[in-house]
Amino acid sequence: MPRHAELRTLIPSDRIQARVAEMGREIAADYAGPLRLIAILKGACFFLSDLARAVDRDVSLDFMGIASYGRNKTSSGEVRVTKDLDSGIAGLDVLVVEDIVDTGITLTYLCHVLEQRKPRSLRIATLLDKPSRRIKPVDVAYVGFQIPDEFVVGYGLDYGEQYRNLRDICVLVEGPPEGVLR
Ligand code: IMP
Repeated sequence: MPRHAELRTLIPSDRIQARVAEMGREIAADYAGPLRLIAILKGACFFLSDLARAVDRDVSLDFMGIASYGRNKTSSGEVRVTKDLDSGIAGLDVLVVEDIVDTGITLTYLCHVLEQRKPRSLRIATLLDKPSRRIKPVDVAYVGFQIPDEFVVGYGLDYGEQYRNLRDICVLVEGPPEGVLR
């Protein structure tokens, strides 16, 4: 896989693994019964697979695909579902698993869609949070790391579909052009 010349490690793999294990224990302690984990494709897949194994509870998995339009349009909240859930969530405890909360537009839209399906509870777990970029307030129950306003890749996060398989979370020093979100 080609590597970008300008990558700076922000969160090394051992810190990610330690924090995900901690989050798993916290989540297991907060729920008594079974839990449906819903990962947002594709970035959250790596986080989901580690988190699911760290939650010592009866968990089931589902996936949702979301597309955001370019940055010039995100403030209008234009988001659409590209892959829907395989099964219903009515009456279930649901935890949405996301890679990063940036403006908050994606999760605001997604939570609105999921609330209409009447889950018993709906919470969000995100590995990364960029609070300084928030446009829409989002109530995030579990946050792995708060990070500054920098474009990051690795551990599922991409730039033009590259770098998802990096073990560390790295800053892409040169940064992406405007309009690149997913
Ligand atoms: P939001 O709707 O602005 O909160 O955008 C969330 C989505 O934007 C994430 O799920 C990512 O796909 C993408 N995103 C935001 N910041 C970054 C970043 O630093 N690296 C890679 N993707 C990002």
